[in-house]
Amino acid sequence: MINEFFQDGPSRVDGRAKVTGTATYVAEHRFPNMAYGYLVQSTIARGRILEIDAAEAEKQPGVVKVLSHLNLQKLALPERPAGTIPRPFYALTSPDVLFNAQPIAVVVADTFEQARFAASLVKVKYEQAPHQTDLEKAVSSAFTSGREQADRGTPAEAFAASEFKVEAEYTIPIEHHNAMEPHATVANWTDGKLTVYDKTQGIQGTTGYLASAFGIDRSNIRVLSPFVGGAFGAALRPGPNLIVAAMASREVKRPVKVVYSRRQLATAHGYRPESIQTLKISANKDGKLTSIIHEAVHNTSAHENFSESLVGVSRNLYSCPNVRTVAKIARTDLQTPLWMRAPGMVSGAWALESALDELSYKLKIDPMQLRLINYAETDPESGRPFSSKELRECYKQAAERFGWSKRKPEPRSMRDGKLLVGWGMATGTWPASQAPASARVTLNLDGTVRVESGTTDIGPGTYTTMTIIAARTMGVQIEKVTFVLGDSELPPSPGQGGSTTTSSVGTAVQEACELVLKQLVEHANKMEGSPFVGVDPETVVAEDAAILVKGKPETKRKFADILRQNNLQNVSLLHRSTPDQGRRSRYTIASHAAQFVEVKVDEEIGRVRVTRAVQGTAAGRIVNPKGAHSQEMGGVVWGVGMALMEKTEIDHKLGRIMNPNLAGYHVPVNADIGEIETIFVVEVDEIVNPLGAKGLGELGLVGIPAAIANAVFHATGKRVRDLPITPDKLI
Ligand code: MOS
Repeated sequence: MINEFFQDGPSRVDGRAKVTGTATYVAEHRFPNMAYGYLVQSTIARGRILEIDAAEAEKQPGVVKVLSHLNLQKLALPERPAGTIPRPFYALTSPDVLFNAQPIAVVVADTFEQARFAASLVKVKYEQAPHQTDLEKAVSSAFTSGREQADRGTPAEAFAASEFKVEAEYTIPIEHHNAMEPHATVANWTDGKLTVYDKTQGIQGTTGYLASAFGIDRSNIRVLSPFVGGAFGAALRPGPNLIVAAMASREVKRPVKVVYSRRQLATAHGYRPESIQTLKISANKDGKLTSIIHEAVHNTSAHENFSESLVGVSRNLYSCPNVRTVAKIARTDLQTPLWMRAPGMVSGAWALESALDELSYKLKIDPMQLRLINYAETDPESGRPFSSKELRECYKQAAERFGWSKRKPEPRSMRDGKLLVGWGMATGTWPASQAPASARVTLNLDGTVRVESGTTDIGPGTYTTMTIIAARTMGVQIEKVTFVLGDSELPPSPGQGGSTTTSSVGTAVQEACELVLKQLVEHANKMEGSPFVGVDPETVVAEDAAILVKGKPETKRKFADILRQNNLQNVSLLHRSTPDQGRRSRYTIASHAAQFVEVKVDEEIGRVRVTRAVQGTAAGRIVNPKGAHSQEMGGVVWGVGMALMEKTEIDHKLGRIMNPNLAGYHVPVNADIGEIETIFVVEVDEIVNPLGAKGLGELGLVGIPAAIANAVFHATGKRVRDLPITPDKLI
């Protein structure tokens, strides 16, 4: 359901291209004389490759070559002594097998089908070593992830002395991103220069990775990624597809395309790590928190120390005088984990927000009331003020819209026919970071505006958001603006991740447009009778493709007239924007959300349906209302998957992922999703950036899994602390 409010605001500027198929994704790009590479993957989880027999494969029609560490040219990487950690994984560079289904060879052929068939004929001999993929067994040798922070107050003593307390363990399995678009690369070497189309969230990162891998200057590399069909963190760092395609193309001297199959999506890239968390929280009889002790361990690989902050949320979401957090990681013989939507935060919030719900029943205090009692007016960790925090308003408006006051507090007390009804809620938060970014803006004589920035749009609607910012700042219609991204030859900008793009790139676009307007004023002032001479530049505004002194229509000068009279075809400039760190550092800057859900449970078959969700979100200024609504809806959908369905199954005996496909790995479909409403509360933030916009891509997910689990408890009286909440756990 789209709220009436969100029918305002422009639709996706790239929507038509996407639904008509003219938006070309990586695998659709081709070069003349292109060959296709298909991955061969290991069938053991740990050991060494002794031999690769490619004779049969290479005899097949169309096969150009079977490539592996045995015959590929070396990369320009520094030698690292064996056993060094981190030892970032570069596919096809070593006989070592570090995880099951590791890419170990690539078959290059004239067609995709020929390559795929021949790949099935490659025979590999291994020296197998024992593996360990079970986090529970690895926990005893877990080690600190370098995220230690000193205790706040005296948490152990406070917990021991408290009357009301909860102590519980919460677990999350490995989850995979499962974007619609598979990871893919098309690589083409010509005269020592490398061009790649790559599914990536960060063009600059991909360029730098290739430059160091091949030992060539960045200027010889062009990376293009104009459309990305979902990534969610899976393309934040280059995957095996990139290096394999680039190495293979160099070897066979033809362009090479490597596209993952659905199976390979789950086996060659990262995933949300498996985690085990223990929470001890306590309160006095009035509900005031007296202690939070949050310990978390998640898996990493044998070759890298990947860690994400599960416990951070416990340090600053609520006001509490005594806090201890412990973060550890444990080695497993699996591919290295990777950030996945709301990384760390959603996992930590699942535990903290579940524990808080458990505490609310012990205290007999309404769950939302408990959160209000412990509302953090300032950042409890640093003592700094928030740059803005309208979370109270989120609780209020979302609760009202949801009808929370009609909730009966007792579990199993609400019904709809034979279905049990449960209402649950949770809080979400996400830091609002900003990175340096650049943009080039060109205003043309014909009234069009071209805006360029080397960022990416993995789906949240960056094309549209940047178009809105430019059109609004320049005072022109949306249709006049073209925003260009996804090319390393464009002005460098950060990758799309951590919900920072609007804040970073949006600020660069807005500032660049303002600088263009300033230049227009200067050009106007070269003309006789300019109304802007001696006028405070701050009072000059843009509207209807013209500049004018605010409130003085008689000073209006059309852009086109200014350009024409100055004999200019365009005004164009490149701007690099940097966050105001001095100002920002005096505050804690974060987005917040209050998230309410209703579930209906059919107890006979253990089926849970999320029938309603209402989110109140405070994320500063909402630049692109439809896109923002979409993001928050997506967060709920993802939360339904995480809470009720998603789990990567591993056969620990084989060390292998058993459900690398959408038949065995369940994600929500339309029929699983009920009504979703989003409310963006008014939040004015003059600190975060000149746009006043905070990120909200990850935020929409953060509290949802806990809110669903809390609603399931309210409906059934069963507390499930192990995700996903599948029917077997409720029957
Ligand atoms: Mo997000 S996990 O930064 O793509």
